[in-house]
Amino acid sequence: MSSEIRRHRMGEAGPLPRRFHQARWDESVIFDLSTPGARGLLVPEVEREVADAAGNVLETIPEPLRRASPPALPELSQVHVLRHYLRVSQETLGADLNIDVGQGTCTMKHNPKINEQLARLPEISELHPLQDEDTVQGMLEIFYRFEQILKEISGLDRFTFQPGAGSQAIYTNAAIIRAYHATNGQAEQKDEIITTIFSHPSDAACPKVAGFKVITLYPDENGYPDLEALKAAVSDHTAGLMITNPEDTGIFNPRIAEFVRIVHEAGGLCAYDQANANGILGVTRAGDAGFDLCQFNLHKTFATPHGCGGPAAGATGVTAELARFLPVPVVEFDGERYRLDYDRPETIGKIRQFYGVAPAVLKAYAWVMSLGAEGLRQVAEVAVLNNNYLMHKVLQIRGVSAPYAQGKRRVEQVLLNLLSNAVKFTEKGGVTLRAEGASDNAAGAARPVVRLSVTDTGMGIKVEDLATLFQPFRQIDSGLARNHEGTGLGLAICRRLAELLGGEIRAESEWGKGSVFTCIMPLKEPAKS
Ligand SMILES: Cc1ncc(COP(=O)(O)O)c(C=O)c1O
Repeated sequence: MSSEIRRHRMGEAGPLPRRFHQARWDESVIFDLSTPGARGLLVPEVEREVADAAGNVLETIPEPLRRASPPALPELSQVHVLRHYLRVSQETLGADLNIDVGQGTCTMKHNPKINEQLARLPEISELHPLQDEDTVQGMLEIFYRFEQILKEISGLDRFTFQPGAGSQAIYTNAAIIRAYHATNGQAEQKDEIITTIFSHPSDAACPKVAGFKVITLYPDENGYPDLEALKAAVSDHTAGLMITNPEDTGIFNPRIAEFVRIVHEAGGLCAYDQANANGILGVTRAGDAGFDLCQFNLHKTFATPHGCGGPAAGATGVTAELARFLPVPVVEFDGERYRLDYDRPETIGKIRQFYGVAPAVLKAYAWVMSLGAEGLRQVAEVAVLNNNYLMHKVLQIRGVSAPYAQGKRRVEQVLLNLLSNAVKFTEKGGVTLRAEGASDNAAGAARPVVRLSVTDTGMGIKVEDLATLFQPFRQIDSGLARNHEGTGLGLAICRRLAELLGGEIRAESEWGKGSVFTCIMPLKEPAKS
């Protein structure tokens, strides 16, 4: 065993990258495999008595709706269908088979298998979207409840789950913006959508498909969306702003509320692409920043698979004022019964068939329920820490630089994590945060540092538990008893990140009296080795 492999096995160097040989079959599309007359299943002839009792069932279907000829479906035996799809599946590099490297934003996250099992329950998987609503009350309840959750997370008032992808949800936003201006008699005049170059390309492509001209803003010298460029771009023609935040660079626009204000003053609406919401869940809300519309990608932020993993779902949210334009149907609840409301005269119509990818909504709902509000906030903290960690690793590669938001030491997530950790340990008493400039000799020579300390008067940590506090998933093993459980993952990432930035995190604690977490961060980044 090479020392490199040993290091990986010992867990010192992370998971071992695997070599992979893709299976390749000389497999045609299923239509080419068709043999006329072959059948997967032979349906028994109907008994005479049943046929007589039923009469000519074809007559119950109106003539214009009847097929003139059989559908052009491939004809294969069951075993040939099975072999075909097994071979094709072997050619797929799916998330479960992958090599510890995400293939894209949708597959880099954890999609718990328990949610898959829930979605495969016959009560869910055997539903048909054309069933009478009385027979799908449970599923409608899940749609309704998840809508209430997204309202809380986003600060907006109504949601539709009809779009089958983020881009379809963004298109829905564009169509609603168009409908809104048309209702105000401004369809001709309001013909421009403003976006930024680091927003997802869908934020330009979708309004274009919806018939708008698209104005793209370039960033200021620090990589932030350029406020001056926005001021120059708005006019009487501005129909709206459609932007991603944090942008696809990972940079959060700190002047987002000002962007919204300027566009509103020009008579435009603002749509928030929240496909990158993993880092802001429970931290900031589209509604609070003044947005009129938003979308979430359930397959990115809410642990449902996409791409190699399964069908997607985009959730479009709007203010109460714009709810009349949402696609039909929307799910309503009268206190006793759920119903699908199609009677909405100002609707933009249908974006996609039926009312959404039900299993995806169920999985997202299950995920949120398993985490709770506090867990969602922790998701955001860990997501940002992970990003910073990865960013730092990438920047250590020779030749790689991040031209934007340079020198921004993103320590706020470390602070947030230490604070939320302290709050978890402190049912009564208080938590104090102190930040001060200092000089530190730990690295040999005196260097200017910032010292952040979070002091709590909570329950404290036992000496034996302090040793494992910063190890991921060990807090659970140690059975540390407190009101709010944590995994230690956030603390582990925080400490590693601080170390990578040339700093450190220490914890001191006295059982029954509280703890002090101190983070020391040099003011200058360590030189690249
Ligand atoms: C920020 C952002 N917006 C929109 C989309 C489009 O979503 P979808 O791929 O589901 O159409 C993506 C997908 O990568 C995205 O990252």
